[in-house]
Amino acid sequence: MKTIYVLNGPNLNLLGKRQPEVYGHETLEDVTALCEQAAAAGFAIHPAQSNYEGGLVELIHEAREKACGIVLNAGAYTHTSVAILDALNTFDGPVMEVHISQVHKRESFRHHSYIAMRADGVIAGLGTEGYAAAVRRICQLCES
Ligand code: DQA
Repeated sequence: MKTIYVLNGPNLNLLGKRQPEVYGHETLEDVTALCEQAAAAGFAIHPAQSNYEGGLVELIHEAREKACGIVLNAGAYTHTSVAILDALNTFDGPVMEVHISQVHKRESFRHHSYIAMRADGVIAGLGTEGYAAAVRRICQLCES
């Protein structure tokens, strides 16, 4: 069984309650269910969330040993974290960056992404469906 790490950053534990007009009503548990449905046969989903930059760095280090690919919504750290970019650069497999909202339509500070400098694909504005699309792409990339 190949494992895909689906990692979420700060404030995403509040998905469904936090600014539903921006991020919708689905919860992180719903996201995990969507990812499990989207995964191809032979792939397992490992979901994890941290509100801490270092927590996300450690999860990416763990993925080095355990995951074939990473789906990452780093939340606000997307726009600020060289440490998370450096951690992703230690990971050999495919990485997909996901944003629930269409960040390019929002404030200019959300337009820049450090994660995009490493990601093999970037999805923004598909709502939680973006995670499922990212999982499908990781399955393709891990199979080829
Ligand atoms: C987000 C967009 C980020 O700008 C924001 O800080 C988040 C969520 C998204 O999923 O749309 O926390 O990554």
